[in-house]
Amino acid sequence: MRIIQVSDTHVSAAHPFFDANTAAVRAWLETQNPDLIVHTGDVAMDGAADIADLALAARWTHGFAAPVLSVPGNHDVGDTAAIKPTQAVDDARLAAWRAHIGPDRWLVDQGGWRLIGLNAMLFATGHVEEERQFEWLAEALRTTAPVALFQHKPLFIDHPDEGPRGYWSVLPAPRRRIMDLLAGANVRLICSGHLHIHRQFSFGGIDHVWAPSTAFVCGESQEDLGGARRLGAMIHDFTADGVTSHFVRPDGLEDLTIEPVQQIIYPSGVDTNPDRAA
Ligand SMILES: [Fe+2]
Ligand SMILES: [Fe+2]
Repeated sequence: MRIIQVSDTHVSAAHPFFDANTAAVRAWLETQNPDLIVHTGDVAMDGAADIADLALAARWTHGFAAPVLSVPGNHDVGDTAAIKPTQAVDDARLAAWRAHIGPDRWLVDQGGWRLIGLNAMLFATGHVEEERQFEWLAEALRTTAPVALFQHKPLFIDHPDEGPRGYWSVLPAPRRRIMDLLAGANVRLICSGHLHIHRQFSFGGIDHVWAPSTAFVCGESQEDLGGARRLGAMIHDFTADGVTSHFVRPDGLEDLTIEPVQQIIYPSGVDTNPDRAA
């Protein structure tokens, strides 16, 4: 079973800066023959504020020969108010995601594996769906099959016991809950996006894969988080024995950074983290 993971396309109705990269990745995907495409969020540039971005993102994710499953990012449905009070996850944003893109959490049994997509933007929100998702995850992990998890934000940057990493990873309290749930399960792979960084490492018997963005990298506005700031996608090949993951850079991608257009796309005063656009 082959899964191609793409992330952080940041499709935009108003801002064309990254359109050529998005088109190049789509053209490349159409030459591939995966069993499944997984998009790990920030499908849209600012879907949490503008429904037009989600509608356009839906057009991007639809129409492939392979099925596409997506999980939402902060730029699709908002974030916990602790991180982004101006765009907290709420019922309307969740409903918009579901209407345009699909379910925000999902489970697929395929190729001898259990594939689980999580809505990481619910963590630490206190939204009623957060608790429902924890209960759902506990049930979803009750399997003897190997499990691969897909979510937008990484659980941690360097270590599961580290303190808060602000905007960049799941906050410590929900992270601890998830780690406790994973400890009793057969999880082999955790795939995320959000950081616009490619990085792969193993921790506690689990492979962690940070998928790069297909649109842009962050420059000086992002501290060093390890890994490589480059554009591309991930290919995951699953067998009964395990999974191998490798980076691929489709033809036609131009190395673009967010900073030159950041204040146009995410103006100060609207985004409470104007220096952070991932
Ligand atoms: Fe993000
Ligand atoms: Fe992003």
